[in-house]
Amino acid sequence: MARINDNYLKLKAGYLFPEIGRRVREFTDANPSAKVIRLGIGDVTLPLVPAVIKAFHAAVDDLAKGETFHGYGPEQGYSWLIDTIIDKAYKPLGVSLKTSEMFISDGSKCDCSNILDIFDNANVVAIGDPVYPVYNDTNVMVGRTGEADEKGYYENIVYLPCTAENDFSPAFPKEKVDIIYLCSPNNPTGTVTTREQLKGWVDFARKNDAIIFFDAAYEAFITESDIPRSIYEIDGAKECAIEFRSFSKTAGFTGVRCGLTVVPENLLATTAKGEKVALNKLWNRRQSTKFNGVSYPVQKAAQAVYSDEGWPQVKEVIDYYMDNARIIREGLTAAGIQCFGGVNAPYIWLKTPEGMSSWDFFDKLLTECHVVGTPGSGFGPSGEGYFRLSAFGDKGNVVKAVDRIKQKWGK
Ligand code: MLT
Repeated sequence: MARINDNYLKLKAGYLFPEIGRRVREFTDANPSAKVIRLGIGDVTLPLVPAVIKAFHAAVDDLAKGETFHGYGPEQGYSWLIDTIIDKAYKPLGVSLKTSEMFISDGSKCDCSNILDIFDNANVVAIGDPVYPVYNDTNVMVGRTGEADEKGYYENIVYLPCTAENDFSPAFPKEKVDIIYLCSPNNPTGTVTTREQLKGWVDFARKNDAIIFFDAAYEAFITESDIPRSIYEIDGAKECAIEFRSFSKTAGFTGVRCGLTVVPENLLATTAKGEKVALNKLWNRRQSTKFNGVSYPVQKAAQAVYSDEGWPQVKEVIDYYMDNARIIREGLTAAGIQCFGGVNAPYIWLKTPEGMSSWDFFDKLLTECHVVGTPGSGFGPSGEGYFRLSAFGDKGNVVKAVDRIKQKWGK
């Protein structure tokens, strides 16, 4: 009989968001008249902007004609999309990148998992706690970890607690680590890494021969001027960091799928024998073998995000969500609930009222207020006692949800 990858059995039974979905379905099946407001998974609710739709349609029409038909595209992505992103999203930050350093993909969730393919399992990985569950679970899947302890910490992963006590800015690991995941603006805490802190991480990584996986999926939501949007704004980062970005939240592509990964050409790691190898070449090899690129219409739609017509429309949608974040943050803070994040990120991270556990608060919020959020403990043990609300909802519903919470727990 074929054997499974036993590492999968080390994982908790279900991925966080499907588990939430299951509980919500159970409740709505039993209470069909309840008007449930969903601020759980960070899924966008507004449609794609007109400029993106126009480009999408035009690209589909291209596929209908022999002269403009496209079959397989480059596995790395079309250079016209890569160059547009470099020009419009990186150049204004003072970051110059080569076309060959960027790889277009079907989303940063896939990339930040797939990147593990090119690293040995002997590497010691450091991740935040709480954290986007994909970082933890994919390391378990590839067999880098042992079993989880009773708290949920896996053997061989170095966890970096991020709580209100350390201002959600973890201390450098004391152990020798080889790979460090950083996410700013952070999912789930909605907080950001300042320029000085990011410089600290880059310096730390270079001194300790570590590589940073920098997840910048939420960079478009930064409102404060000096917060870095790319790790490459920091000197030396091209020698120690891989960056992931996404169109999902930036431009409403959660269902369309497009993201990108930057692997600078100067970024090196060693073979088992100690020879230095460029990670860019390895990632290129991996992508050309296992991936056939993102579809032509999707890449055309992504390019339109940065057009003169598209960007103001996209920015308006981002501002709409960030206004939701303000409504949640201000409303709950006024009600005496301690809130974090929501200024440079579409997530509000709150302390559960009355010292409730994260899942108890989830259940109460669902059954008594008909509001869905995400229990902090689902992102890691240090998330216990916290709760995440997403700002990606419809504004009317966000206002209603805040009112319901205020009525129930407001002081
Ligand atoms: C979240 O809610 O954390 C995100 O939607 C998950 C994701 O981007 O995969």
